[in-house]
Amino acid sequence: MNPSLLTREALAQFAAENRAAFEAELKTLVEIPSISADPDRQGDIRRCADAARALFERHGGKAEILETSGNPFIHGWFGEDPSLRTLTVYNHMDVQPANEPEWLADPFTFVVDGDTYKGRGSTDDKGPAVTALFGALAARRAGVPLNLHFLWELEEEIGSPSFEGGLNHHRDRLKTDAIVVSDTVWITRGKPSTPAGLRGLKGFRLTLETADHDLHSGVVGGAARNPLAELIKVVSEMMDGETGKVKIPGFYDEVKKPSKQELAEWERSGFSVETFKKDHMITGMRTEEPLKVMKRVWARPTMEVHGVVGGYTGPGIKSAVPPRAEVKMSCRLVPDMDEHTTIGRIRAFVNARFPDVQFHEEHGLAPFKGHVTGPYAEAIKEAYQFAFNAPCCFTREGGSIGAVKTMEDILGCQVFFLGLSLPSHGYHAPNENYDWEQASGGMAAFARYFQTVSALKA
Ligand code: BES
Ligand code: MN
Ligand code: MN
Repeated sequence: MNPSLLTREALAQFAAENRAAFEAELKTLVEIPSISADPDRQGDIRRCADAARALFERHGGKAEILETSGNPFIHGWFGEDPSLRTLTVYNHMDVQPANEPEWLADPFTFVVDGDTYKGRGSTDDKGPAVTALFGALAARRAGVPLNLHFLWELEEEIGSPSFEGGLNHHRDRLKTDAIVVSDTVWITRGKPSTPAGLRGLKGFRLTLETADHDLHSGVVGGAARNPLAELIKVVSEMMDGETGKVKIPGFYDEVKKPSKQELAEWERSGFSVETFKKDHMITGMRTEEPLKVMKRVWARPTMEVHGVVGGYTGPGIKSAVPPRAEVKMSCRLVPDMDEHTTIGRIRAFVNARFPDVQFHEEHGLAPFKGHVTGPYAEAIKEAYQFAFNAPCCFTREGGSIGAVKTMEDILGCQVFFLGLSLPSHGYHAPNENYDWEQASGGMAAFARYFQTVSALKA
């Protein structure tokens, strides 16, 4: 190994020399609309898998596309020395749809605007994926003695429905000592954080039909039921829209309070409500007290209404009684909640109170409790400090990554997080972006992490 290639200066130089290559690789991936939620994009999912495999091969690695019962995933690797430790980096190559009207440019045309990279998937999660890969190239160049594996999923954004089966099927070749995931956000620019936990997610829909077609509200109104108004009532009995408080009996029973130590770390994390609002461009908040905001996003479960379908939505009004309606909802779950118990309680409540409302379950992901101690966790903090010259806090993450718990369960090792995205990058938002500061620093952070991990005693 040549440690002089792993100093801050050498890694900055590596990043600068490789900037054009990094941008070209990211462009190729961002310009493939690998939208897992859209069945019409199956061709693009395949094209993305092919492009990812070619990328590993272009840079001296090996790669194979591994099949599952759904979308495939990509297994790339550098080095296969059985005497060395193996570390696996997880990212996802599928992206959210991008039909928001606020996009200022085509979401699948990669735009380089100074140090900013724009396009769907640029930060979630193609940018961090390519960053980690270049971090690996820097480590390889210096001869870091480590087998480096990459696992790039193609159905994370739909809750990883086939990942468990696929992982089980291919588990032998995926043996690893630990996993590092780069798919999370910092507190804000200059303030790295790594999650000590992720929220889980359970989706569901309510539907109600009380007629066959639009009815004249002057002819039947008053006597005929209104399914849209009834579903609004159901929702208001399930939760308080203003405070967010969930009214389902038992909903909060298993919620574990964050420890004193955890709360102290959050207080130190540099979180500010003003920055949070600015980064996310939020104009309305349920509370402006910082600790309450952190608790609500990281440590409390939620119930959200995502969409209401039904009735007339054109200009002006049409005075009809709609025949049917639908509400699309989900809950974010925290340790120690269980998605089956939670959805059972919600279903039981709706069934008992509104027997002819149909209840439809969607996918579920369990909450995840992370690891904050031990050499792999210490190395994460050290890598951020080294590369970004800023302390990293253990916070939690309000979002969900289905693969995390699945990988721990099936591959039998621990998962850590070295995220590079910023709140202002706009996960799932129009004009999603990533930037060179995070990418170049991220390459150094990954190279450093690989070096530290390679030196751990067996
Ligand atoms: N990268 C995110 C997870 C995430 C979100 C981490 C927010 C940190 C903060 C991931 O790509 C994602 O969006 N997950 C979805 C999963 C769902 C669609 C099953 C989520 O959390 O909604
Ligand atoms: Mn993601
Ligand atoms: Mn996402």
